Amino acid sequence: MNRLTLTTLLALAGIGALSGCRGQVSEEPPIVPIRNMYDQPRYDPQQASDFFQDGRTMRPLVEGTVAREMEVDLAVESGRTEDGSSWLLEVPAPVLQRQGGMEQALARGHERYDIFCAACHGLAGDGAGLVSKRAEQIGASALIAPTLHDARIREMPDGQLFGTISNGIRNMPAYAHSIPIDDRWAIVTYVRALQISQASRPTALNTEVAQ
Ligand code: HEC
Repeated sequence: MNRLTLTTLLALAGIGALSGCRGQVSEEPPIVPIRNMYDQPRYDPQQASDFFQDGRTMRPLVEGTVAREMEVDLAVESGRTEDGSSWLLEVPAPVLQRQGGMEQALARGHERYDIFCAACHGLAGDGAGLVSKRAEQIGASALIAPTLHDARIREMPDGQLFGTISNGIRNMPAYAHSIPIDDRWAIVTYVRALQISQASRPTALNTEVAQ
């Protein structure tokens, strides 16, 4: 076979190989001559690592790392003063600011309250939600949600109300993971509005005052 024939054959084979692949559907796995992009050395999650001294493949966050959406203000996040010694008396101003003001916070809080709290505490905050009514019917008194118009709850600092929503209390579930921080504060503003709207309801305090 002379050189010219060999070159022609190779060229033809090349053209054949190229044209044969185009537009054809195949069930076969592709033939990949250089596999190093496919078979790269890697660790699986949770797999032990020889490389790192602590043997962990999944690396802990660098100290001080903050997620973009994380609340960095401890008081806003916990409802407590910076040193953690007492509850915030009012909804923190930056929270109201970023919600667009009190009116927006109230509207949002109203909506969130109706979704998350009313089932137990009632739309008017009087404790007559469907869950409470049902609990009463079947004699499950521990699950009856109290009225929010009680003097004790009225006089509770805003931060404590926020803390109650965040952490739950006794038979009430915690909402820190299902209601975002700003929405929890918005609910606090709405509970305050509900309390003012129902201020003429007789409570332990009102009765005392009236007597
Ligand atoms: C599944 C029913 C249920 C839901 C939903 C619920 N609560 Fe409660 N809540 C309760 C019960 C029950 C108690 C009484 C807990 C106890 O004293 O054992 C309670 C207690 C409270 C108290 C009084 C805390 C105290 O110091 O005694 C507040 C304030 C309150 N809830 C606010 C809210 C708000 C705001 C929401 C909505 C984010 C909410 N709750 C959602 C059932 C519920």
